Amino acid sequence: MEHIFFKPEEPVLRLLDQRYLPEREEWFEARNLEDVIYSLQEMVVRGAPAIGITAAYGCCLLLKEVEAYADWQEKLLKGLNLLKAARPTAVNLTWAVDFMSKKWEEKKELSASELYGLWVQEALALHRLDIEINRKMGSWGAKLLEDGDVVMTHCNAGSLATGGFGTALGVIRAAIEAGKKITVIANETRPFLQGARLTAYELQKDNIEVIVACDNACGFLMQRGKVSKVIVGADRITSKGDVANKIGTYSVAVLAKKHNIPFYVAAPLYTIDPYTVKGEDIPIEERKQEEVTHIQGKRITPAGVKVFNYAFDVTPAELVSGIITEEGVFSYPYDFSFLKNR
Ligand code: MRU
Repeated sequence: MEHIFFKPEEPVLRLLDQRYLPEREEWFEARNLEDVIYSLQEMVVRGAPAIGITAAYGCCLLLKEVEAYADWQEKLLKGLNLLKAARPTAVNLTWAVDFMSKKWEEKKELSASELYGLWVQEALALHRLDIEINRKMGSWGAKLLEDGDVVMTHCNAGSLATGGFGTALGVIRAAIEAGKKITVIANETRPFLQGARLTAYELQKDNIEVIVACDNACGFLMQRGKVSKVIVGADRITSKGDVANKIGTYSVAVLAKKHNIPFYVAAPLYTIDPYTVKGEDIPIEERKQEEVTHIQGKRITPAGVKVFNYAFDVTPAELVSGIITEEGVFSYPYDFSFLKNR
């Protein structure tokens, strides 16, 4: 499912607006930095790799916006820093902006229009590469699944969260392509409902059997033997394998441990942050209260009540049975410090 399109000649970035799925397929058009930051913060587009790809195209839009100014280089630098700060947890955002910045640093002599040509090619290549990586991850991960497995997932780590195919859902897709029958339990994932809305939407579109469950049904379903394995994605993984992912993931991991259910994380190597060692050092995004106090514009809590709206949590490495990457499946104890040399 293609949900991110960049047209360099206009230029415009067209994003399938995930706020309105599954009711309607509406497209959001980003034409400048402000639109891109809005699309990230309001979650028109979300999911760590998709955030990174959007940011790479966002760099191109920003460059077009400032190229006519005499001080375009200063304006560009300022804009890149704003873009990087749009969401704090998914390391892919910083990674993508740093990647584009490095390409610029290597060719500082380029004019703005020459740099635009280079950046467009780099952003398109990054997008294509992400899909290839997901396919590779899928073929490694598919070996861990057996015919008849019922796989629980949390949030949406599918096509909609990546350049295409997905990380956790990519593993499931690859197992199905290999002829295995797999059923997916999609935890609804309050408050943005990535599971109920997005995971269910894209799996149903692909005719993959999906059952949506309330987040708080997880323990019961595991206790009753209804879950064979868990696979989730990640927003950032530390060098020792602590995993930041959508709020609720940690609870699923603890319950999986209690019930002896394998708990896997599928993520590309660029989601691993080898410079952060401990999970507690990962910045956790706190989002607006209305996401919790309201459902579809209707208040569900007493007015004025305080709420927690942490968007992510951290699952300690020892609860993770394996980390599926494009270069193979890593197992505990993890040490990703080798990525510093890449
Ligand atoms: O707030 P979101 O929807 O951007 O959070 C997304 C997740 O937590 C995903 O599980 C994660 O990014 C993995 S995506 C392949």
